[in-house]
Amino acid sequence: MTLTGSTRLAGVIGWPVAHSRSPRLHGFWLQTHGIDGAYVPLAVKPGAIEAALRGLAALGFAGANVTVPHKETVASCLDTLSDSARRIGAVNMVTVTADGRLLGDNSDAFGFLENLKAGAPGWPADRPAVILGAGGAARAVCVGLIDAGVPVLRVANRTRARAESLAADFGSRVEVHQWERRHDILAEAGLVVNTTSLGMTGKAPLEIDLDRLPDDGVVTDIVYAPLMTPLLRAAQARGNRVVDGLGMLLHQARPGFAAWFGTEPEVTPALRDFVAADLTS
Ligand code: ATR
Repeated sequence: MTLTGSTRLAGVIGWPVAHSRSPRLHGFWLQTHGIDGAYVPLAVKPGAIEAALRGLAALGFAGANVTVPHKETVASCLDTLSDSARRIGAVNMVTVTADGRLLGDNSDAFGFLENLKAGAPGWPADRPAVILGAGGAARAVCVGLIDAGVPVLRVANRTRARAESLAADFGSRVEVHQWERRHDILAEAGLVVNTTSLGMTGKAPLEIDLDRLPDDGVVTDIVYAPLMTPLLRAAQARGNRVVDGLGMLLHQARPGFAAWFGTEPEVTPALRDFVAADLTS
C-alpha cells in the first residue's frame, strides 16, 4: 500500500483496540477498490476520548468507528447525533464534516437487518421475534426489528430489570419475559436472536430447548467466534434456517466506509472468507 499526500484517513477508536477486526475489513475494501485511503487502529484511553475526537477533526480524518468502552460515552463529545444513535443509546461511527463538526451515528441496527436479509431472505418479519439478552447489542437489534415492522419483540434477560428498561425505551411492542421461560416463548416465533455472550469461544453455551420453535423460524446469533455457535448448530440440526453473526460485523461497516471513502462497498464471500480466516488463526 502506498500512501500519498492526499490519502483519506479513518480508523477505529477503542481501548483496547488490537482485537478489532475493522482495520482488516476496511483494508480489504480499500485494496479491492484501489482507494487512496488508510484505516487504522486508534487506541484511546477512556479519559482521552474527547481530545481524541477533536483530534480527528484537527488531523483531517474523514471519520472513525467507535468501539468498547466508548460507544455509550462519546455522545456528549459530539455535535450531532443521528436518530439511530439516539434510539440505540450508543455511537459506533463518527463522521467529520467539511467544517470540522462531529456527527455520531450507529450502524448496528442496519448491519443486523442487512445480515438477516442476506442470510435468510424473506425471514418471517410478521411474527413475534425472541430476543435473548438486553445489553447494548440487544438495543440495536430491537431498533432494527421495530423498524422492520416486527409486531412483537419478546425479550428475556437474566437480569429482568435490563429487559424492563428496553421495554420502557422502545414501547409496547416489547414484551418482557422471565429468562427461565425462554424455551416457552419460542412458540409462533419467526425469529430468535441471541444477543448474550453465551456461546462465545471460552464461554458457556446458551442453554435453550428449541422444541417449540416453528420449522420456518430463523435463528441468528450476534456471536461470531465461533461462527457456528452451539445455538446455531442445534437450530440447523432441526432444520431451521440460521444466520451467523459475522455478517452483522461486515454489514455494519458499510455506512462508515461509504461516508469516509466515497464508495459503497459490498459484502462478498471473498470478504467474509478474508475476515473469517483471522477469527481462527
Ligand atoms: P453487549 O453490549 O455486547 O450486549 P452487555 O451489555 O454486557 O454486552 O450484555 C451482555 C448480555 O449477555 C446481557 O444480556 C447479559 O445478561 P445480564 O444483563 O443479566 O448481565 C447476558 N449474559 C452474559 N452472561 C450470561 C449468562 N451466564 N447467562 C445469561 N445471560 C448472560
